[in-house]
This record gives sequence, structure tokens and C-alpha cells, in this order.
Amino acid sequence: MILKKNINQRNYVSLLLIAKTMSYPYQILTEQEYQDKYQQSILAPEKFWAEVASHFSWHRKWDEVLNYNFETAHTHWFVNGKLNITENCIDKHLKNKGDNIAIIWESNFENEESQFITYKQLHERVIKFTEVLKNNGIKKGDRICINMGMIPELAIAVLACARIGAIHSVIFGGFSASSIADRLEDTEAKMIICCDGAYRGDKIIPIKKIIDDSILIYNKVETVIIYKRSKTEIDFNPDRDKWWHEEEAKITLINDQPEIMDSEDPLFILYTSGSTGKPKGAVHTIGGYMIYTAYTFVNVFQYSPGMIHFCTADIGWITGHSYIVYGPLLAGATSLMYEGIPTWPDAGRFWKIIDKHKVNIFYTAPTAIRSLMSFGHSQFDNAILSSLKTLGTVGEPINEEAWKWYFDHVGKGKCPIVDTWWQTETGGILISSLSGVTDASPTFAGKPLPGIQPVILDEQGKEILTFNKQGNLCIKFPWPSIIRTTYKNHDRCRSTYFSIYSNKYFTGDGAYRDESGNFRIIGRVDDVLNVSGHRIGTAELENVLNSHSLVIESAVVGYPHEIKGEGIYAYVICDPEQEMNNSLHQELIEIVKHQIGSFARPDKILIVPGLPKTRSGKIMRRILRKIASGEHEQLGDLTSLLDSSVVEKIILLARS
Ligand code: PRX
Repeated sequence: MILKKNINQRNYVSLLLIAKTMSYPYQILTEQEYQDKYQQSILAPEKFWAEVASHFSWHRKWDEVLNYNFETAHTHWFVNGKLNITENCIDKHLKNKGDNIAIIWESNFENEESQFITYKQLHERVIKFTEVLKNNGIKKGDRICINMGMIPELAIAVLACARIGAIHSVIFGGFSASSIADRLEDTEAKMIICCDGAYRGDKIIPIKKIIDDSILIYNKVETVIIYKRSKTEIDFNPDRDKWWHEEEAKITLINDQPEIMDSEDPLFILYTSGSTGKPKGAVHTIGGYMIYTAYTFVNVFQYSPGMIHFCTADIGWITGHSYIVYGPLLAGATSLMYEGIPTWPDAGRFWKIIDKHKVNIFYTAPTAIRSLMSFGHSQFDNAILSSLKTLGTVGEPINEEAWKWYFDHVGKGKCPIVDTWWQTETGGILISSLSGVTDASPTFAGKPLPGIQPVILDEQGKEILTFNKQGNLCIKFPWPSIIRTTYKNHDRCRSTYFSIYSNKYFTGDGAYRDESGNFRIIGRVDDVLNVSGHRIGTAELENVLNSHSLVIESAVVGYPHEIKGEGIYAYVICDPEQEMNNSLHQELIEIVKHQIGSFARPDKILIVPGLPKTRSGKIMRRILRKIASGEHEQLGDLTSLLDSSVVEKIILLARS
């Protein structure tokens, strides 16, 4: 069927007035240039970012580049600027790069054909799906939750939301119905976009079934659009459920009018765990996020036209948002999306994909590297990997052994590794070397990117200027993609990030800086675990464990884990009045799987008679962490404990 299009000419005329001809921001190519740009960005940040922003298409230029107040946690970039991010991701490339590939999709199954979606095709598919959204009553400002496997339709759904100004909240496919319901409730989502089932290696995740269960908990969702991927049988509720393909088949006229959005309108909400309570919805807004993800994509990975970029993250996490969808598309790059897992059907799967598509930039997580290392060298038997130019890591500290393995076996000793440090809240990479331009040494993330002003503070908030001395990592000036708020609870945003240290953004990470100014990130200093690169709050886990009828109290800590980076160790006190149950361990694991998702299940559970507490009732997690790590002899000072004998009892149980 030929679709009629009614493209709004006015939009395109006004776009051309502002956009510069160069398609992406200035690229730093030498160490000296990095130094110069960094200095410029610190001395005159507004001038610096205004120049970067001038490479994008705006419908109206901003009145003011930056307006902020860290005390109240308010940051506004490109004030009163008007734009639509998808015009920058797609339309801007149509004239000169319309036939270039925007997305390569590689199936879970080696024998299923890859898909190659050009910018023109992506445009067609996104504007068609925006009609589906509009037909189903979606308007600017509505929240849509998206829960799908890694298929192109996930990126299309995200972009279609952004095109009409709906706020997307993508939920990682590993979350349980209960976690999804929390997100539906918090966003008050009107619609869910999902698939029947998602392939992950030899498993099918029954996504629609999980969605149905989540709607039993939160029943205000009006429409569920289902993309048929796995042909898994589903329960179809005709009052609410609609097939993606049937909805698209109803479209006869495309009236493409990208919504003209304010620079500070929300683009998406992404939930992330903190040290207290339930996960919070980090809100990112359009203008600043766009500028920053494009700028960092081009500069950190040293992208140049024609390169193929393969980021192995899931779009359900921030890495997928920023460096599979938005950053690469804004730069007009080819972004490779992979549906499956690294180790199925065998550990050579990534390497085959890299050779098949001649991937130039490969960006993955240390946990994936460590897991692949354990499969031995035969995974490289047929691998050439000569197309690779840059390797990247993200999500957790990378240990030296994994760094070297990655450098030698994947990069064949010739590809720089960028160890990129950032967070859901930062929207894009803040500290990293620039591939092949600035120094990269194992276990160091490197130097701050232009515009980023990190400081290391001691507990009193005094800046640590001594080299190699660890403190809390903070950032003292806003960058364009800084978190704007936590959805529906601005005070949580202010108190978590902007009130611990006056006038600084507090990252929650510990770090130090060496003599050359390179930063080494040590890990979280708050009660947040990083398990296989997934952020999990200990309080969140404890709440779930405590909801079991036999549990009185629990304390969860992390401990070093060879593959996951950090493992989950749960100390649990049970009700002595009640009869103990042999299957308690399994029940506790199930309850976590059910309430959060399998990725959060504890690796070790120890039933204990008590917990080490101070006289004021505070659990001394430091001691529990030491016991979990097997460092039973180095527990330090126990004098502040209310009852130190409990420590010996726990050690005895841990040893047995
Ligand atoms: O502790 C840091 C760790 O991951 C946390 C952020 O997690 P999340 O919001 O899920 O985002 C992950 C992807 C950006 C940080 O507070 N982290 C992230 N990257 C690194 C890292 N730790 C060390 N080195 C990194 N390169």
C-alpha cells in the first residue's frame, strides 16, 4: 500500500534556518585540542555549549543557554529553545544520508536474516507508528511504558513517542510484574507497548504475560500495543489489547507533524535504584540530553562517517538510550542492535557479529567481558576482528585482568579502550578517555570530558587535592544532560543529589585522581549494589526479603564476585516463634524474583540470630561486608556495637 503523506512544510523551512550545515558537533582530534577545548568549556561553559548546540536543528533559538540553581536542584539548558529531537535523529540525515543504514539488527538466532534499516526507512516506520499512537489517543505529555526485547520496533516506539512529545519510560525486560506495576503507577502510564515474547538465548521471556500480571496490580492502563515477535500464545483482551501490525494496517494517511517541543520538556523517565525506598524515575529533558549524547558519542568513540557502532546494552537501561538510540542516530551513524545474549549459542557470538557487519566501535560491560573470559580461547577460533577501531566499557569498574584480556584478544593490541564512567542521572558519559586521543590506562576512567568539572570531597565537604587519595566524587557545575528531577518527587532529587554537599552534584561514587589528572572510580559509597552492571538498592532488597512471613529483619551487602563484579549477600533474621521451613532459602529467592526480577536474586543467604548494631540501632554494614568477603580477621573496631558477641555467631555460621 502506498501511504499518503502530508508533511508539514513549515517545519522544514524553519529547521533549515537554524541548523548549521555540519551534521555533528566538532570533533577533538589531538590531546592538545582536548586541553584547549576543556579550558574553553570551563572558562566559558555557555559559549562552549551554545556552539555545540548550533550544529543541531531548532525551530526556535534559545533565549538563554543556562539557568541553574543547585540549591533547589533546578537546571535549564537552552531556555525557550524549540525543537523535536527526532528531526535531529532522522529528518536531518534524509537529504544526504537517507540511504545510509541507521540500524542494523541482528537476531537472537544466527540463521535469521539481519535487518538493515536506512534513515529513509526509519523515517517511514517512525512516522507510521506515530499515527498508531495518535489513533489510540496519545498526545504530548502522555506517559508510555515500553517493555520489549531488543528488536528494531523498540527503537521505533521510542522515537515515535519522542516525535509526538509523549514521554517514554522503557522498562528492562528482566523486571517482574510487580516492578513493572510500580513504574506504571508512578508514571500513570496510559499505554504500554510490548511484544508477545522476547528471545534471550534459548529462553523466551513471556513479556505479554508479565504485562498482564502487572496490569492486575495497576489497572489504569488504557491500551496495550503488542508486537508479534516470538509467536508465543497470549491472552488477548479485546477491550485493551491491540496488535501492532493490525494497528499499522489501519493507517491510510500519514499526517506527519513532529510536535514542536520546548528544550526543557521531558523526553523520558528512566527508573533507577537508590539507597532508600523504591526506584526513582530519573527525568531527562530534550535539548540538553540531545546535545550531550551526540557530543559525547562523537568524541569519546571518535566516530567518523561510515563507522558501524555496536553497543551491547539493553535499551531498557540508560546506556541503550544514549548510545544505541539517541547518540548514534543524532550523529547519523549506523547503530547495531543485538537481540540475544553474549554466550548463546556459544561464546563466539559477539565476535561473529563483529566480523559479519565489520563493526568499528564495540561497547560492552566488564561483566560480559569477565563472563566471556571464562570460556577460554577457542571462542576466537574463527574470529578476525580486524574492523575494530575502538573498544569501550561501561557500568562498573573494570579490573586489570579483564582490561588486558579485552585489549589483547578482542582489540588485538591495536584498539584503544575507553572506560566510560557515567550514570542514569548524568544522561551521558562524564569521565573517559577519548579513543586514541587522550591516555587510557587500565582501571582508570580517565579525564573529565569538556564541560565536566569533577571534584573529590572528604566527608566534611573539603576538596581533596592530594593525588591518589580517595573521597566522594562530585561535580560542581551543570552539564547539558544532568538529571532534571525525579518524577513527581522533586525533593527526592534535591535531597539525593544536591543536598549532601552544598552547590555540588553528588554522584554516590568514591574515586581518586592520580598525578596526571586521571580519575579512578572505586565504586558506590552509598547502599547501592552494582551487580553485573545492574544497580540495586540494598534497602529495596531488604524490603522484599522482610515481606516474607518468617523474616523479622534482614541486611543486604555486596561482596566481590568474579564475574558479576559484586554479588548479593543477604543476612536474614527469622521469627523464633515460628517453625522454620526447609525451603526458606528458595522461597526468599523466589520472592525477590517475583518482586524485582531474577537479576536481583541473592547469591548467598545466611540465616542469623542477630545483626551487628550500634547502640542507636544502626546496622554496621562495614562488618557484614567484611564477613561476606571472607575477611573475618579484619573487622576493625567493634566497641561501638551494642552486642559484639553476635559477630562471632555470624562468623561461625558463615564458615559452616
Ligand atoms: O558506580 C558507578 C557505576 O555505575 C553506576 C551508575 O549505574 P547506572 O545508573 O545503572 O548507569 C550505568 C551505565 C552508565 C555509577 O554510579 N559505573 C558506571 N560506569 C562505570 C562505573 N564504575 C566504574 N567505572 C565505570 N566506567
